[in-house]
Parts: sequence; structure tokens; C-alpha cells
Amino acid sequence: MITLIKVILCLCLPLVVFGQAATGGDRGILTPPVSRKPRINGAKVYGVRPGHPFLYRIPATGARPMKFSARKLPKDLKLDSHTGVITGTVKKPGDYSVTLSAVNALGKAKRKFRIVAGKTLALSPPMGWSSWYMAYANIDDKLIRAEADAMISSGLADHGYSYINIDDGWNVKPGATDPAIGGEPRNADGTLKPNRNFPDMSALTAYVHEKGLKTGIYISPGTRTCGGYEGSYQHEEQDARLFAKWGFDFLKYDLCSYSKLMKDPNDSDELQKPYRLMGTILEQLNRDFVFNLCEYGRGDVWKWGSEVGGNFWRTTGDLGDPQKGLWDSVSKIGFSEAGKEQWAGPGGWNDPDNILIGHILQHDELVPTPLTHNEQYTHVTLWALLAAPMLFGGDMTQLDPFTLSLLTNDEVIDVDQDTLGKQAKPVYRSGDLQIWAKDLEGGSKAVGLFNLGESETEVTAQWSDLGLQGKQIVRDIWRQKDVGIFDNEFHASVGRHGAALMVIRASR
Ligand code: GLA
Repeated sequence: MITLIKVILCLCLPLVVFGQAATGGDRGILTPPVSRKPRINGAKVYGVRPGHPFLYRIPATGARPMKFSARKLPKDLKLDSHTGVITGTVKKPGDYSVTLSAVNALGKAKRKFRIVAGKTLALSPPMGWSSWYMAYANIDDKLIRAEADAMISSGLADHGYSYINIDDGWNVKPGATDPAIGGEPRNADGTLKPNRNFPDMSALTAYVHEKGLKTGIYISPGTRTCGGYEGSYQHEEQDARLFAKWGFDFLKYDLCSYSKLMKDPNDSDELQKPYRLMGTILEQLNRDFVFNLCEYGRGDVWKWGSEVGGNFWRTTGDLGDPQKGLWDSVSKIGFSEAGKEQWAGPGGWNDPDNILIGHILQHDELVPTPLTHNEQYTHVTLWALLAAPMLFGGDMTQLDPFTLSLLTNDEVIDVDQDTLGKQAKPVYRSGDLQIWAKDLEGGSKAVGLFNLGESETEVTAQWSDLGLQGKQIVRDIWRQKDVGIFDNEFHASVGRHGAALMVIRASR
């Protein structure tokens, strides 16, 4: 009977590519080429604290020159119509409904954008880049500037990526013999010093801000960072004030050596202490800091991360642990987010770590990710469904077309950034097959079909598992194409370690 319905549907809808939506062996680029017509991308909601500096670059694709405008922008915010960068401050708390527009020679795009001036930041999962997996601690001012340039020139910023995050290795490493990083970690008054590879932090943040992008810094609450660089222990407020003075917008606070100061390194109360302290300090600063807790998921951090002021928290150890195979880590860490969904939402997200595609370090060499194409689809599909922060860990100065296509699919990004802020959960698991679903604003659902097995297999999503009934329109999000209208179920053939990502909405 079901087969009969399918046959009828196929006959009625000749364009349906039935059951083979996103299929097959190892897939190449599925994301359609970026249109030259304007499209406004990225988050639809943005949190800011009243009275603090505001900086937002409207992410828009399409041919330049482009002219930007905004209706009902809170007063005291100013939009540069050529660059699309909004600056100023929002003085009064409130929920402001703005309409953004972008016009070029080929057309016009509009998008509703809510600016919420209040306590909560990161109302959608932060998007950006982090230095760790492409350079480890071998970073300097030049590298960070080059990556910021590349976030613009590669087009990533036009899809919503905005944070340029400096990870471990920017300050002094006590005891190091290399004069570039060794020496006294603090001045006589306790002021923290960057190492010689970072001659002028304020100039660096200004360089990034000038592009309409934001920038992050990293330190440990312990005496040393994981790489052995100076930590903030007993200088927490002094360091945070310095980061604000330098102009940073984001802090990753990595437990590292703080463990040694704890009686029980897994005790949730003890773990909360340093994060609560820094969370309170950051709240009192005169600029917004997105606060990233990194303590590897100890003490069920997802249960208290928000309460101590965190905006997202790593739920596990390092995704790119060099001792482990990357596919093993991506699949283990990614799928182990199941059960933590109730703790994720606007302002506080579970973080399975950076997106490790493109050129990343493998055994100290910057080389293409060892993940196959299918595995990369699984990685990005899962992170989008999980509403995970989209922090790219690879080198933005050498993005190949395939990597770029994975990072810049705006409909996939829309799933990640959806304003409801729901984390997907598994609705079906059997052997190597898993189906995960995420409720989206407006009543549709994003559905991921995963095959963790070693050979291509058909995966069937039953409406009963998804809580759906009747005719549904299925859209293949990677291809950005409606596949057809289906009753009861949808199935796709999914390759080894691969994934398909659909958005399903009622057909009326
Ligand atoms: C830890 C963190 C990583 C990275 C390194 C830096 O391992 O989990 O994300 O920040 O430290 O040393």
C-alpha cells in the first residue's frame, strides 16, 4: 500500500527525485553556487547589553556593490550603508524588531532581525573561527590578521561567521627558553603581558573590529594554561579588565592546571567556583564578552553552565585529540550529545568543539582533514542539528571549494541558528543507523539521517517517529531543493559514514 502511494506521488510530481534525496557513495559539492542576487544570512536574533559597544556586520551574499539599510534600528545605532556594519550602543533595554535590507544591481533582500538589549548574549550559537586546530600555540599577530582578512575575502563573513578567536599561546610561557614567548609573565603591578609575537593587542582588536568582526581571547583560571602559558589564578579581575581594555569580545576559559588546585577535579561545586567568579566579573565589564567554558564536560557542566554566566560549554575532551582518529572522535562526541538537549537554548549552548574540516593540524602538519567527504557531511550536519557553536578550526587562508561549500550552506546554517534554539535529539536508533530531529521556528522540523555503518544503506524516517502526520513537503537542505511530498515516511540511501539533512514541513 505504502509503495503504491509512493508510486502515485511520483507519477503526480514528476520533479520528485524519490527516495534518493541525498545519497550515494562519497558525495562532492551539494551546496548550490552562491547567487549574485542579495541574500541576508546568519542569525535572526542578536543579544546585546544596554549601553555597551554594539558591533554587527550584516552577513549578506550577492554581487557588490551592495547597499544596506535598516528599518526601525534602535536610535544610537548607526548603519554604514556601504559595508553593512552597525555600530553604536543600544541605550534602553528592549526587544527591537528591525528589518534589514540589502540591494544590488540584481535585486533586493530583506530579513527580519531582532536586537534584544538585555542580559543575555549569544541568543543563537556563536559562529566564527578558532586558532587552536590550525596552529596550536604557534600563533602571532600576523597569523590572526591574515585569518581575519580571509574571513572576509573567502566570503565566510557573508554567511554569518564573525568571531576571530585566539586560543592558547598568545602570552608569556614562564620558563620557556625561546625569547619570543619566555620572560616575566606580568609587570610589577601584576598586569598580564602578551608575548613578543603579539606586540599590540589593542591594535589587533581594532584591526578585526574595523572589518565588522569580533575577536576572542583565551586563558585558564589556573596558574598555567594547558600549553603552559601564564594563567589568571588570583588575577582574575585584573586580567578580565585588561581583556576589555584591549577590546576583546569573547573569552574561552580553559580549566587546565586549575584541576591541580581542586580536591576532586570532577566535583561540580568545585568546578563551578572559578567559572562563577569569572562570569560575575565579565558581567560587570563595560563591554560584552561571550563566555566559553572549557572544562571538558566535567561535573555535568551543561546543567550549570548558564547559571555561572557561560554562553557555551565544551561537553567533552578535545575533538581533535591527536591520539584518537578524527572520525572516531566526531562520531563518538557528536552523537554523545544525546540527552543534553534540555540544557541547550538561547544564551547557553552545548559545545562538541570546533569544526575540523579543511586544512587542520595533524601530527603538527597543516594538512587536509582526514575525514572523508561523507564524514564531513556528517560532522557539519550533526553540529547544525545540535545547535552547536559553528567555530571553524581550519585555515581560512586555504579553503578549497568543497570545504567552503560545507561551511557556507545558508539553509544548513539556518538550521543551526534557528531562533527557537532547540538542540536535536535522536528519534530513531538501530544498529548503525540514527535519525535525529530538531524543531524549527514556524513548526517545521530539521531531520538528519545518519549511517555510521561501512556500506551504503537505505535510511527511512517514519512520520510516527517524528511526531508527524499526513502529507509533508521534504526539502533536501544540502541541495536546497524540495524533494517532494510524502505520506507516512521518507527514505534516502545514505553512504558509508554519511548523512542526509532534510527540513520537513506540512503540505497545506
Ligand atoms: C585544551 C582545550 C583545547 C585548547 C588547548 C590549548 O586542550 O580543550 O580546546 O584550548 O587546551 O592548550
